[in-house]
Amino acid sequence: MESRGVEIGHVSGPALQASVDLLAFTSFGDPTKDALFKSVDAALGGFLADVARSESFEGKSGQSITVHTHGRIAARRVLVIGAGARGEFGNHAIRDLTALAAQTANRSASASVGFVLPQLGGTREAALVQLAAEGVLLGTYKFGRYLTGEDHKRPTSLKSFGLITDAKGGGKKPTAAQQRAFQTSVARGVTIAGAVNHARDLVNEPAAVITPTALAAEAQAIAKRHKDTITVTVLDGKKCAELGMGMFLAVGKGSDQEPRFIHMTYKPAKKPKKRLCFIGKGITFDSGGYSLKPSQGMEDMKVDMSGAAAVIAAMDAIAALGAPVEVHAVAACCENLVSGRAYKLGDVLTSMDGTTVEINNTDAEGRLTLGDAITYARTKIQPDELFDLATLTGACMVALGPYTAAVLSDHEQLTRGWLAVAERTGEDMWRLPLNNRLREQLKSSVADMRNTGDRYGGAITAGLFLKTFAKDTPWVHVDIAGPASVSSARPAQPKGGTGFGVATIVEYATRG
Ligand code: BES
Ligand code: MN
Ligand code: ZN
Repeated sequence: MESRGVEIGHVSGPALQASVDLLAFTSFGDPTKDALFKSVDAALGGFLADVARSESFEGKSGQSITVHTHGRIAARRVLVIGAGARGEFGNHAIRDLTALAAQTANRSASASVGFVLPQLGGTREAALVQLAAEGVLLGTYKFGRYLTGEDHKRPTSLKSFGLITDAKGGGKKPTAAQQRAFQTSVARGVTIAGAVNHARDLVNEPAAVITPTALAAEAQAIAKRHKDTITVTVLDGKKCAELGMGMFLAVGKGSDQEPRFIHMTYKPAKKPKKRLCFIGKGITFDSGGYSLKPSQGMEDMKVDMSGAAAVIAAMDAIAALGAPVEVHAVAACCENLVSGRAYKLGDVLTSMDGTTVEINNTDAEGRLTLGDAITYARTKIQPDELFDLATLTGACMVALGPYTAAVLSDHEQLTRGWLAVAERTGEDMWRLPLNNRLREQLKSSVADMRNTGDRYGGAITAGLFLKTFAKDTPWVHVDIAGPASVSSARPAQPKGGTGFGVATIVEYATRG
């Protein structure tokens, strides 16, 4: 299957006979114990092992070596990638391996790659093929629109990425059904990675470009591509006022950019098994408002719409792959700025469900926009299951570090189901307790509650604030403040917006 100029397919026959520019394979620990390493080394007259020794390559995760073959085998170059102990290798780690292979190809002007899929047991192959395909596209992602140097304009060299499933050759020829299954897995991976990269683009674009109106246009463009299954409704400020969204509208008041409330609906052809709703936080820029952030804390705040980007981009993949369930994506989008019209500390807001909220910090804006989005979802959509993804609190990063999302919910079964899917996709999530005892921090003497609590337990009080609006709807809150963007790269995840959440949403919705 072709995507962004790279054709991902199957290479049959033994690895040693693959005539590709770059032959890549994995070594789980000591390479000299690996059968393929040994046979390639023998064909190259022993110099692969020489290079491994001189570069202290021990097949550990993060290590790799490349050598020229000087015509001794069909491939022009060989890349051996360390993957650590075989027993500890999780499926999703394959993304970084194919990402590294694709990057190595582009760095060495290679057009074709043959990647030997590691043998990890028959039942894992379909998942591995999908994740391998994802890695190729995730690893070659680059946000280069604003780079003007010659380097960035050159087209990349990689044109075809072939997966080799029978390294030794001589195995049974794959049946037609197996070939179809392979193609389906590749297509799935390509579609999901495409949506992840789309979300990355939306996050990486400056806030001057990705305004609430621009996000609404993105949602409409996706709906246009899937006319049969996706519809979209965009509410302007006036419509939101009619619905009583006093919290959402207050946050956007300080900006000249108009707010937009986006609601996308996917309906399958067959009668849906259930109705899901994914809400994404859509603050296109968070200055903090009058509780102004210091410059350093504000620098990255274009990422504050990552949740919205994830739920919107995921709908594209959901419609492309088809889902047995009805899926709604909701994003209340606005900018949190300072001006003569901005909301202030001490203001009392009336939310869509009538709850009044005293503002003691204008930088806790996400929960206000989400609170009204949750009420909208609960009353207008009435989903069986409701999820929200939000770059909500710095406290979440203090608790779990920069790569792990926090999951907060009082619904055991829904939480377990969601975490199981996240585990499969390799998106790192960890549950925090939605401890009711902290609710006393949200008490106000002038309104039903205030919008922030104390410093300790900040991710939890944010979750408790949202729970007020979710009421009895089965609901899971995912705080993605950390993993929505990264400052240190790994192969399948370049610096900047990550598209976190897309893979889990798509897996959750399409597997029913
Ligand atoms: N958008 C921020 C949270 C955030 C921080 C996201 C860092 C990504 C990286 C959110 O609106 C915010 O400002 N939260 C405050 C809450 C506080 C005022 C209770 C925070 O975490 O400081
Ligand atoms: Mn904020
Ligand atoms: Zn924010």
